[in-house]
Amino acid sequence: MTFEKATWPRRLRSQEWYGGTSRDNIYHRGWLKNQGYPHDLFDGRPVIGILNTWSDLTPCNGHLRELAEKVKAGVWEAGGFPVEVPVFSASENTFRPTAMMYRNLAAMAVEEVMRAQPIDGAVLLVGCDKTTPSLLMGAASTDLPSIVVTGGPMLNGWFRGERVGSGTALWQMSEDIKAGKMSQQDFLEAEQAMSRSSGTCNTMGTASTMASMAEALGMALSGNAAIPAVDARRRVMAQMTGRRIVQMVKDDLKPSDIMTKQAFENAIRCNGAIGGSTNAVIHLLAMAGRCGVDLSLDDWDRLGRDVPTVVNLMPSGKYLMEEFFYAGGLPVVLKRLGEAGMLHKEALTVSGDTIWDEVRDAVNWNEDVILPVEKALTASGGIAVLKGNLAPKGAVLKPSAASPQLMQHRGRAVVFEDIDDYKARINDDALDIDETCVMVLKNCGPRGYPGMSEVGNMGLPPKVLKKGITDMVRISDARMSGTAYGTVILHTSPEAAVGGPLAVVRSGDMIEIDVAARRLHLDIPEAELAARLAAWQPLPDQPSGGYDWLFRTHVEGADTGADLDFLKGCRGREVPRDSH
Ligand code: FES
Repeated sequence: MTFEKATWPRRLRSQEWYGGTSRDNIYHRGWLKNQGYPHDLFDGRPVIGILNTWSDLTPCNGHLRELAEKVKAGVWEAGGFPVEVPVFSASENTFRPTAMMYRNLAAMAVEEVMRAQPIDGAVLLVGCDKTTPSLLMGAASTDLPSIVVTGGPMLNGWFRGERVGSGTALWQMSEDIKAGKMSQQDFLEAEQAMSRSSGTCNTMGTASTMASMAEALGMALSGNAAIPAVDARRRVMAQMTGRRIVQMVKDDLKPSDIMTKQAFENAIRCNGAIGGSTNAVIHLLAMAGRCGVDLSLDDWDRLGRDVPTVVNLMPSGKYLMEEFFYAGGLPVVLKRLGEAGMLHKEALTVSGDTIWDEVRDAVNWNEDVILPVEKALTASGGIAVLKGNLAPKGAVLKPSAASPQLMQHRGRAVVFEDIDDYKARINDDALDIDETCVMVLKNCGPRGYPGMSEVGNMGLPPKVLKKGITDMVRISDARMSGTAYGTVILHTSPEAAVGGPLAVVRSGDMIEIDVAARRLHLDIPEAELAARLAAWQPLPDQPSGGYDWLFRTHVEGADTGADLDFLKGCRGREVPRDSH
């Protein structure tokens, strides 16, 4: 990797606001002095924005103000000037219709917050699912030196002697209730056991996956992803991150130096090894789009095919993030990939060293948590990308969370036109469905929902659950929570709302899936499919204005990351003109 450090000292962009004696310099500096900063702090040292996604309504990030203080301490120690800046916090568990609709809005806001203000470098303080990709996307579009520190996962949940994994247990228990295996009272008692400390979901859900992706990309210090939120070492990590960003600014070590095609390929392989969330597909595609890196769904399939899933965490396995940390965390996994020839060892990281330098000495302290390859959960653990007449631009499936006996299947479609139709009919015992059927859900893609909600792992009909069946093939243009599981085909593209073939599937049609052959086929005559597509009419579509209009008008398909078309690419750090 060729990276040439910038010369230091040099005049930084923050000096355009603070460095001089003009009327404008005095205006900018004078106002900040009302916070009690001595004059010599405006001497040209790096101003570090601590972009904080804390919010009372993003409880997963509820401890980030405390963590920000540790980041600040690190910045001061290294001779920088920290400024904490609140940014859009897209909470997974409160935003409607789905936090995903606001990922791009958050990224757009972060980009402008960075560019429009006197920030020389940024610490991205993130945690909950969308907060990590949105801030990385914004940072990539400014290309200002940036480093991620995540809030870390919650401690293990425990209920009646069993581990309770965030999200994963919720899906299991709600199915158990429908099957008559669990009482509502027990469900309520389990509620408090699910979330017993600060932090993000403790499964290998989307938050943990995206923390791992940030580390595998080289955008976080090594070891960051798995440290529990309440462990003292999480605070040390925050402080070290604060120290490091100051040097990154001096060196001008930028996202474009780190988030290269090689880095994305490392992250994709890492996702297969950890059994990471399908949401990583969409987020990494969008991030690559901001970086100008040519990344496609085909890259996901090509790179993930031969990666065994070795991290034994829910939803694919049995442990939780706390145990992953004790076992050695992500450096062990990256080292394993490196030894197998599946890592671009020379990829640069925020430390200024290569990723191999960071992980080569990692030790696996628990081989039941990070499994030997011969005991892998799935030999081919990477995200499988299926294509065919039902998904010309692709659909994804997570093999490690699917049922092996359903990976090749032919079944009768039972179609739900949208999520309301599904909710209205799924519990009806008169619904003509059995476990051999293929459940199909339409109009839940980026434009259709809007925002592409995590409803793809549709709960099974009670009459099937009562037989003891726990999985069926499900197909949709929706996403699925990273904590969820099942033989669930997601992100079907083009989506139904823009006239993709999914839109014209009818109940009774036969559907074939063959994961090994990467095939997803609607078994009707070609002429019939063409006739149905020709007759297709879009649903009445009435954006309410505002961001809803902006999003629906400009959102791209899931196959390219569902970013807004006009936000792709890097627009740099220059401000068009001064503030006065
Ligand atoms: Fe926020 Fe899982 S809901 S991390």
